[in-house]
Amino acid sequence: MSNNPKLTTTSGAPWPNNQDSVTAGERGPLLMQDYQLLEKLAHQNRERIPERTVHAKGWGAHGVLKITADLSKYTKAKALQAGAETPMLARFSTVAGESGAADHERDVRGFALKFYTEEGNWDLVGNNTPVFFIRDAYKFPDFIHTQKRHPKTNMRSPTAMWDFWSLSPESLHQVTILMSDRGLPVSPMHMNGYGSHTYSLWNDKGERYWVKFHFKTEQGNKTYTNEQAERIVGRTREGYQEQLFNSIKDGYFPRWKMQIQVMEELEAENCAFNPFDLTKVWPHADFPLMDVGYFELNRNPENYFAEVETAAFAPSNIVPGISWSPDKMLQARIFSYADAHRHRLGTHYDQIPVNRPKCPVHHYHKDGEMNVYGGMKTGNPNAYYEPNSFNGPVEQRDAQEPPLRVSGDAERYDHRTGHDDYSQPRALYEKVMTQDERDRLHGNMGGALVGVPTEIVERWMGHLKQVHPDYEAGVRAKWEEKSAEAGYDPNGLPITGDTPHEAGDETPH
Ligand code: NDP
Ligand code: HEM
Repeated sequence: MSNNPKLTTTSGAPWPNNQDSVTAGERGPLLMQDYQLLEKLAHQNRERIPERTVHAKGWGAHGVLKITADLSKYTKAKALQAGAETPMLARFSTVAGESGAADHERDVRGFALKFYTEEGNWDLVGNNTPVFFIRDAYKFPDFIHTQKRHPKTNMRSPTAMWDFWSLSPESLHQVTILMSDRGLPVSPMHMNGYGSHTYSLWNDKGERYWVKFHFKTEQGNKTYTNEQAERIVGRTREGYQEQLFNSIKDGYFPRWKMQIQVMEELEAENCAFNPFDLTKVWPHADFPLMDVGYFELNRNPENYFAEVETAAFAPSNIVPGISWSPDKMLQARIFSYADAHRHRLGTHYDQIPVNRPKCPVHHYHKDGEMNVYGGMKTGNPNAYYEPNSFNGPVEQRDAQEPPLRVSGDAERYDHRTGHDDYSQPRALYEKVMTQDERDRLHGNMGGALVGVPTEIVERWMGHLKQVHPDYEAGVRAKWEEKSAEAGYDPNGLPITGDTPHEAGDETPH
């Protein structure tokens, strides 16, 4: 007798044969009553769920956040008190590619963290860059359209990307980082993470502080050149998955140091730049990084679909002592993610084990798709509305965050004019990068512009010149050189279609 588990139907009945269909005669046809064959085919047809509209390709692992500093002055969050240890899940991702995209592509990387705190789940859904391409959420769907496939050609469109960026100078900072060495990390373990937005911490006296979250890789920032990445993609499209999974499997647990920058609440009003503008960093010299603790990833998922694909991260998931800021982008993200999850995973997506809080949950939401745990988590079947006389769950007023100070009239404020989009990319280009890094930046950007219509390229060059004349000159030289190599006249008539970037010898052998 075999010790293997016994095969059953999904309703638990013994299943006698998983090899041969029931047919009328040896040569067929099939009988409808072979319902397990129908079940099998029907289940297969439903194995895919919608992929994320962005950040579809990802790699994830479980771990723990450990806090070493005393942050009680800033926050009452239990998970951020000295000595706290909180179980967590991390999912890293590329932004533009579909779920089958190659890992080693030049792109911004998602850096999504879910902390299962004793006061509820806290999600910090960041990137490996401290800034973003846009500063108003109205532009997010437009921006993402330029990163995804062209509706007619069904190909990625460099023309669309550079058209949008050249018409949106607020993107200069992020595009500079994307085209720099940091745009192609060796693995998820070799990149920093940033909350990017300004968030807030608030303490038990009701005082609020603005804060930026940073996660510095302890494996070192390591990056590939385009050429190195091309060779890797030729060998494997799953390089990140291989490295992260095998590292943890072999007992090498990656770590990131957690740091914060803090700004006093009223300081924001006198800051030389808008501290809630996602296209800007807070300079370290003015807002020094404070060590807070670290997180370590030490457990691979047992099942990728159940623990990574169905993970639902949302900036709306905050806990007492941690909150948002007026940042318009962050405010839009408070809505967008839970809505995406309801579409992608179902109404009660937070009942999926990987999303389920590890603390008691009591609420008055009722019924609906996927409400598999009885839903009305009120502790009493008569308490399914509020107010009630049946000891239903009561509000926790001490979880109320302090009032958010706002000023000004309700208006559509122009986010496109009157902003300095050049100084911070200039600081990065001039002060942070070495000449070698600048040279590689010129090469990456010059190459990416090959085949893009000249008027768009020239518009972009105009912005680069305002960042630094050497930036424009360096990218222009590389654009001309690589265009010539690829057989384009960079100063010729605009090329209207999207054409292959680097024509090589494609003679079949
Ligand atoms: P600092 O010299 O104090 O910090 C520079 C930062 O740049 C470091 O955190 C470093 O990360 C990071 N860095 C190095 N190379 C790159 C790259 N190619 N792309 C992105 N980041 C890189 O300077 P400031 O704080 O005054 O900022 C100057 C510029 O540095 C900013 O305009 C911004 O572009 C960039 N920067 C600033 C950050 C901030 O929060 N202030 C964060 C990240 C970038 P590491 O230490 O891990 O090597
Ligand atoms: C994923 C919207 C900006 C980081 C997503 C998803 C949506 C979305 C709808 C898919 C969610 C899912 O299906 O699970 C938006 C909107 C933005 C915005 C509307 C701006 C207004 C940003 C910014 C960052 C970011 C600024 C980083 C600082 C991420 C990450 C993921 C993601 C990391 C993947 C999360 C995961 O691993 O599941 N975004 N996004 N996004 N976004 Fe954004």
